[in-house]
Amino acid sequence: MNRRILFAAAALAALPLAAHAAEPFRIGLLVPMTGPFQSTGRAINDAVKLYIKQHGDTVAGHKVEILLRDDAGVPDNTKRLATELVVRDHVNAFAGFGLTPLALATAPVATQAKIPEIVMVAATSSIVNASPYIFRSGQVLPQPATIAADWALKHGIKKIVSVVSDYGPGYDAEKWFNDRFTAGGGTVVAALRVPLANPDFAPFLQRVKDAAPDAMYAFVPAGVGGIFAKQFVERGMDKSGIRFIATGDVTDDDNLGDMGDAMLGVVTAGPYSAAHPSALNKSFVDGYREISGGHRAGFVAAFAYDGIEMLYRALEKTKGNMDGTALAEALKGLSFESPRGQISIDPETREIITPIYIREVKKVDGALYNVEAETFAAVKDPAKAKP
Ligand code: PHB
Repeated sequence: MNRRILFAAAALAALPLAAHAAEPFRIGLLVPMTGPFQSTGRAINDAVKLYIKQHGDTVAGHKVEILLRDDAGVPDNTKRLATELVVRDHVNAFAGFGLTPLALATAPVATQAKIPEIVMVAATSSIVNASPYIFRSGQVLPQPATIAADWALKHGIKKIVSVVSDYGPGYDAEKWFNDRFTAGGGTVVAALRVPLANPDFAPFLQRVKDAAPDAMYAFVPAGVGGIFAKQFVERGMDKSGIRFIATGDVTDDDNLGDMGDAMLGVVTAGPYSAAHPSALNKSFVDGYREISGGHRAGFVAAFAYDGIEMLYRALEKTKGNMDGTALAEALKGLSFESPRGQISIDPETREIITPIYIREVKKVDGALYNVEAETFAAVKDPAKAKP
């Protein structure tokens, strides 16, 4: 054979491999980019862009392709868009999910298509039970709720009123705080639930004031903390002598800077603070500020950044095999450093194992931050603990 034929033969032999390698790794990113939860979609999208910018857009020979879809926070949209992403676009994985109902609506689609669904923000504990393909990159509410309750018991708080958004994660936040607090000798004077859509906290805050507990404990999802804080200040709650404790969702770094000095001293339990002192977090916060047009990185961005890293690592582990079931197996047991600290994926429950911090709102260089005071490493979902 002359050299030219030899070359042609070699090129032909290499073709199937090249065609395989050229197949992109397609991630369907389902998030609310419009509607009342658009700040969640914006943060997820920016964090995903940042991860790809910092780590490259090729994994195990595959180019990463993000297919962004706006569900506007409506579960029927999420399900329809997820189905289209499978049938038309042949995605290899789903990610995103700004609210529990959106993650749940997609579960049967992930099960049928046999592709991983990375739940980044939705945080009701039961979500992972809806499909063996669901994995969590963020948090579940029983994690911060139990730690917040322990903190309250240790700090002389004897009576509380809980205020939560009236849906899945709110019920988790309420149950796991109130049960723990009661078991430790505390009294729950009232457990209030506020509608998720267009919340008016004023009448609920008035009831808290009238009940005069030692503390108010609160959960609202990302995007709602700003409204809650505003009405808290308007009602003069900061001068009522009632302590304010919450899950980290309430003092979201995404808008903590605008909440006002009345938030000083608020104690929260949560997995992520922009003030977390690590080199990785500094590069994350700096990179996020640049890519987002000046926003401070909050927990939503951190959870999305981790979720994309999970998919990158899973695809590396399968050595480029994009089969959904192989990816799901590879996701189990992953462990790596996140901007929040060390995290891992529980291989039995597919649930995030995360650090949870007790933080206090303080001024750092003239701006409000969640300053970490106590660390609880490798917290599993207490709702999935074996008896
Ligand atoms: C949820 O809908 O499960 C959810 C959303 C945002 C949060 C927490 C929970 O910050």
